[in-house]
Amino acid sequence: MTGVGHYLPEKIVSNAEMAERVETSDDWITERTGIKQRHFAAPHETAAFMGAAAAREALAKAGVDALAVDAIILATSTPDQAFPATAVHVQAAIGAHKAFGFDLAAACSGFIFGLSVADAMIRAGQVSNVLVIGSEVYSRILNFEDRGTCVLFGDGAAAVLLQARDVAHSGPGLLSTHLHSDGRLAEMLYVDGAVGQPEKSGKLVMNGREVFRHAVTLLASAVNEALAANNITNKDIDWLVPHQANLRIIDGVGKKLGLPPERVVVTVDKHANTSAASIPLALYQAVSDGRILPGQLVLLEALGGGLTWGSALLRL
Ligand code: COA
Repeated sequence: MTGVGHYLPEKIVSNAEMAERVETSDDWITERTGIKQRHFAAPHETAAFMGAAAAREALAKAGVDALAVDAIILATSTPDQAFPATAVHVQAAIGAHKAFGFDLAAACSGFIFGLSVADAMIRAGQVSNVLVIGSEVYSRILNFEDRGTCVLFGDGAAAVLLQARDVAHSGPGLLSTHLHSDGRLAEMLYVDGAVGQPEKSGKLVMNGREVFRHAVTLLASAVNEALAANNITNKDIDWLVPHQANLRIIDGVGKKLGLPPERVVVTVDKHANTSAASIPLALYQAVSDGRILPGQLVLLEALGGGLTWGSALLRL
């Protein structure tokens, strides 16, 4: 992983501002979720626009020209269009004319699913330089009459560049990914209709209590899978970079893992839940401010609509 980039919409919306739209309060949102503010996109800030900005920064950080990119995998639940894929709009915008691009739909787990696909393609020798992007504009699919969901989500994008390298076993790179989904739990968190069912609302629906109940258990099992597969223990982990949905879920997984809060990256207070963008945004933050250092072992985990969930272990 040689470069990380990000984009956040200019407009920041505080909990107090949300309380002007729906019957809620800063206290309620803070206490239940840890969220203090979120970014909401302006009309021109689409998933493609934000994804392209994040991709440009990731390439610049890696010092790699866009023409060297072989593939663009863009995880999103809020694409600009049903087709073409948002990834090809990013391709055109950044000038990655030699690449191929496609979108990946795994809701909040999309970034980890994207990493896994990119890693497999690199190991197979099919590609050398892959952009994995999470880009989301959930403000477009929120039901602003449902206070139980509209306060939880925000917009943003982040991207990483993965490059093929011959490295020693202990060298940098993606060490493992573990992916899961269970379609029997689809009713727990979904978007009602959209392109294939235009008569429906197209808005996000969630049974928050049930999602919460499943989250800590499933995330802890995905994290343990990563530890077991790599023959390591929690003590070997330098940083947990969890999906940023809810501080209570993050704390719960951190506790189950036995990791002190100082080794868990939290950005949910500033970004709220940006779905597929949340993990790379948190990674960006902690790499940029010098917390995550080269050589350190970083564990990622996510859960989202599907349900989908999974983990990834990487050495920076
Ligand atoms: N402001 C004020 N009150 C609110 C509110 C809001 N924004 N949203 C809901 N409430 C009220 C409810 O109406 C309910 O009131 P009632 O008791 O009078 O009926 C009360 O708060 C409790 O609601 P409930 O939904 O049971 O709250 P909760 O303790 O389960 O917390 C969540 C709600 C959404 C914060 C919590 O369930 C959660 O975090 N779930 C996980 C969601 C998530 O992370 N999803 C994304 C995964 S990718």
